[in-house]
Amino acid sequence: MEQTPTVAPMIDLSRKEDGTSSKETFSKDVAEGLSQFPKSLPSRYFYDAAGSKLFQDIMALPEYYLTRCEFKVLTDNRQEIARQFAASGFFHLIDLGAGDALKTKILLRELSQQKSEFDYVPVDISGDAMQQLTDSLQQEMPSVDVQAVVGEYFPALEWLQENKAERKVVLFLGSNIGNFKADESRHFLQRICSNLSSGDKLLMGIDLRKDPDTILSAYNDASGVTAEFNLNLLRRINRELGGEFDVEQFRHYPIYNPHEGVMRSFLVSKKEQDVYIRDTGQTFHFDAWEAIHTENSHKYSLQQVSELGKACGFSVETVFQDEACSFADVLFTVA
Ligand SMILES: C[S@@+](CC[C@H](N)C(=O)[O-])C[C@H]1O[C@@H](n2cnc3c(N)ncnc32)[C@H](O)[C@@H]1O
Repeated sequence: MEQTPTVAPMIDLSRKEDGTSSKETFSKDVAEGLSQFPKSLPSRYFYDAAGSKLFQDIMALPEYYLTRCEFKVLTDNRQEIARQFAASGFFHLIDLGAGDALKTKILLRELSQQKSEFDYVPVDISGDAMQQLTDSLQQEMPSVDVQAVVGEYFPALEWLQENKAERKVVLFLGSNIGNFKADESRHFLQRICSNLSSGDKLLMGIDLRKDPDTILSAYNDASGVTAEFNLNLLRRINRELGGEFDVEQFRHYPIYNPHEGVMRSFLVSKKEQDVYIRDTGQTFHFDAWEAIHTENSHKYSLQQVSELGKACGFSVETVFQDEACSFADVLFTVA
């Protein structure tokens, strides 16, 4: 029997209302980050086509326990999670920063099997990732209704608020919340909450605090894939903004602070150098061993997560956890 087409055209919110393109915003953010002291670059620019591919390679690394652990948590608890999602009838399943949705697919399969009524709305700034995901879902799960949105989290949530009226279940997997600083994560969860209604849900992946060596190796693998992922940010600036980085003259340097529970990644300049970036019209000076901060990854205790959720208008419904790996997927409800 012929399958009814269920894939809606992708919504592209990556062009801002004021007319600025995502490339202009990228150029502005790079100029701002490299002009300040200490230098930094936003981690959301990791994920161009090359970065998304490298991240898929990272997820398969022996040291990168996060994906394996969350995969297990979702696999072991898929029936209960799907049941709780679908308990009140039709819902929009909104996957923030969906990427390749490797783990979300566990839930999509289970929801389909339970004949739950839902549609799937993956959201990601990477248009390439959304195109690939839409194509793969069409192949693997043609019965799932899909409406991919290319854009930043908040414009996408506002678009959803206006265009998708029914009950919402938001996924924020992969410990992505860890990329925000403490005040940013509160602001982020408050904004999610303000775009949801009472009874809507949020399933959030949390990498819990554990042996610092285990954490550090996950961001500093022996085969150097994470280093390539970090350095790809400079390659992307070269490709898209006419940057003149000699990538060989920078190195990946990760460090974990167990006191704060924060993993930080840097790109360190191996020598004093000047780098011209055409689209910014500026030359940036680097002292020898000066660092660019590129990523934070906060590790939480369950108590911190629960307090964070409560402070932002959520209550904890269920904690799904893998004791061995200490990774949790926490199901919150809007109070
Ligand atoms: C670490 S990957 C996680 C992918 C997947 N959710 C998982 O758990 O494996 C992060 C994804 O979030 C996307 N992303 C990062 N910052 C974003 C933002 N501000 N708005 C929308 N998507 C973003 C990236 O493009 C990337 O695909």
